[in-house]
Parts: sequence; C-alpha cells; structure tokens
Amino acid sequence: MKRRSFLKTAAAAGAAALLPAGAVGMVSSGCVRKTGKAVDWDFDEIIDRSGTWSIKYRRAEGGKLAMWIADMDFRTDPVVHEALQQRLDRDVMGYTYGPDEFFDAIVGWEKQQHGFDVPREWVEYAPGVIASLCQVYLAFTEPGDKIIVQTPVYDPFFRYAERLGRTPVENPLVWKDGHYAMDFEGLDRLYDKRVKALVLCNPHNPVGIIWPKETLSKLARWCADHEVLVISDEIHADLALYGKRHTPFCSLDETAARIGIQLCSPTKAFNFPGITGTAYAVIPDAVKRQHFHETLENAKLREASIPTMVATIAAYTHEPVWLEAVKRYIEGNVACVENFFSSHDVGIRPIRPEASFLVWLDCRQKGLPQDELVSLFNETAGVVINNGAGYGTGGEGFVRLNVGCPRSIVEEALDRIARACEK
Ligand SMILES: Cc1ncc(COP(=O)(O)O)c(C=O)c1O
Repeated sequence: MKRRSFLKTAAAAGAAALLPAGAVGMVSSGCVRKTGKAVDWDFDEIIDRSGTWSIKYRRAEGGKLAMWIADMDFRTDPVVHEALQQRLDRDVMGYTYGPDEFFDAIVGWEKQQHGFDVPREWVEYAPGVIASLCQVYLAFTEPGDKIIVQTPVYDPFFRYAERLGRTPVENPLVWKDGHYAMDFEGLDRLYDKRVKALVLCNPHNPVGIIWPKETLSKLARWCADHEVLVISDEIHADLALYGKRHTPFCSLDETAARIGIQLCSPTKAFNFPGITGTAYAVIPDAVKRQHFHETLENAKLREASIPTMVATIAAYTHEPVWLEAVKRYIEGNVACVENFFSSHDVGIRPIRPEASFLVWLDCRQKGLPQDELVSLFNETAGVVINNGAGYGTGGEGFVRLNVGCPRSIVEEALDRIARACEK
C-alpha cells in the first residue's frame, strides 16, 4: 500500500476504534450551541499562523513543519473565542479584579473534570504556571537548596531553579515493564538535608504518563517523611486521553494536601497559551497559601487581566464538547503515528501519551549521536521537533513530536521522516 493511503486508513481505523459507531464524522469537526449561537470547529483546517507572532512558526522557515513547542494549530475552543469577542465588543479595558465567577469556575471544573472537591479558599490566582513555579521557588526555598526534578522533564523546572540560584537534582525516571516509573530508591540515594522541594509533572511532559494513584501516594509519603514540598504542575491534566483519569496531587489524602502546591491552567487544553498569566494554584495548607499569596502580592503579580478571567470562566463553565472532540482527534493523530512506525521499521518507536498532544519518540535504535538525530528531523526531514536531550538525563536518543495539528500535517511529517531515514 502506498505510504499516504496507508496513513489515511490507519488514522481512520485508530480514531474509529475510540468512538461509538457512526461517530467518526465528529472526529474532525463539530457544532455546539451553548449561547444561542451556532459555533463550530474543523480540526482538519490548516490555519495560516504566519504574521501572528507565533513562537512555534518562527522556526518553520523554508517550508519546515513546526511540530515542537506545546501549542496546537487548532482554533481555540469557540466558547472561549466567543466570550472574548463579546467582552472586547463591550468594554472599557479598565483595571480588573479577579471576580467570584473565576474562582467558582475553577472549583466547579475540578469537581466535574477530576472529581476533586476543592474548597473555594484553597484556590489562588496564579500568574502563569512557570511564573508561579518561580515564585514558589523564591518563597519556599533558599539559595543553594536542592530541588528534585524527575527527568526527562519539562526543562524550565530545572532551568529556572538554576537561574534563581537553587540546585536542581535529577532523579531520572526508570523504564520498567514497558513504561516509565518513578525511582524511589533513587530518591533515597540522593536525599540530604538541602533537599527542600520536588517538582512533579502530573501528567508528565514529555513522556506523557498519567501517574497512577499508588505512585502519587507513595511519593506523598516519601516527601512528607523527608519534609519536602511537592510542587505539582498539572497543566496537561485536562487533556487525559483514552478515558484515563488524572489524579490531582492535593486530592490524594491529608498528607498530600499538607505538603502540596498544585499549579494548573486551562491554557494548554483549550489552546490559548498566548493569553499569558492564566493559571491558578490549589494550596490546601493555610500557612503555605498565605505565604504564596503574600509573595505574589509583594511582586505585584496578583493583578487579574480581562482576557485571563474571561477565557478561564468560558472554558470551565461550558460543557466541554470541544475539549472531548479535540482529545478524540489527538487520539486519532497518535494512532496515525503508531501505525506508521509499526509498519515502517526505521528505528523509531513512539511512546503513547496518556495525556496531551506530545509524542515521545524513542529513536535509540537508530544509534545516532544526538546532534545527528536532531538534524535528521529538523534539517533532513524539515520537521521541527524538540530535542529529547534538552529535557535532562534520560532524554538522549529521544525527540518530542507535537501532534496537536491537522492530520494531513501529521501524515506529511511521517512521510518526510521516513524519507529522511531512507536517505
Ligand atoms: C509541564 C508544563 N508546565 C508549564 C508549561 C507552561 O505553562 P505557562 O505557559 O503557564 O507558564 C508547559 C508548556 O508547555 C508545560 O508543558
């Protein structure tokens, strides 16, 4: 079968397997009426992002495909778009406070989406996940303190720890029985009195794992026993795939609630990360919460912005019809990648993400030095990916492919990668 037609069949089969009979047509497009007006989406549509100041497309010169930084090439959820539009049409853009509706929306969403009954007072506005992570580092650790990161992991965790004079220490994930696991023996080995915090990526970027409850409970116990603060980055939580359930760290039990700070945001799932400053923290412990609050206040980082509030409220208060559809579409794209590499032996094995639209490609079989591997994708194939080595120990031999884009782009990328491998 020709590579192209194989791809189409494989993706359709993958997507169809995940949907009720007759629902395949809903995968790429749909329609929802929540505000009396019809709004729709078409995930197959190729949207020209040139001239929109997109960071992703800065690296797509000369016809390269931009499949690296974690935003999707789909229009933002129409309910978010419409809410922003209405507000723009209406208002003076004056100074704004965080309204009750913002906090109510978050409380409602955590309950509905993740089964977490969050008391309203546990929720704090947060000026972006990584901006808040930096403030947590500053507020809860001292220069020279050690912060554990479980690599390969989202690199700002350790890069900002370093920038702020803290010492990131790696506890690399281990590959066990066909999946990644946390190395608890590694934690025991690396611990000393300077270890003050651990950053948990929950779900994990880039390996895509949704941490099992038992693992999180064990981690909570270990951290509590060693008086280590857990900063749980949950930005990918709303994109849990294949019907999997995400466990919010602070929902686990009293121990986790005592030692945990959860950083969350609707920007990743609803695709509006360009509206920066959109996040929230869940901090059950009153003393930690007050300290976080004061730290942001002192840095003048607690000011709400209109787009942040409007977009969050819209995303979290409508039935998540678009979100469910985009997740099904991503599953179809992942199926496309999996089926392609299982029938084209080019030394690349995708690791299925349990959440989000980032596929971790195991290219170790190719036996290439990392710079040559990266060049094979970025230059020879013209598919711009993230270099696995950038995520710390354990990332060598891997690259991260963003499949949050129309299926035809995924197909084109696979085609280009196969041709580059054959060269
Ligand atoms: C795990 C993780 N945390 C945080 C972020 C960025 O969050 P923010 O834009 O709110 O700083 C990303 C973006 O890719 C991410 O993957």
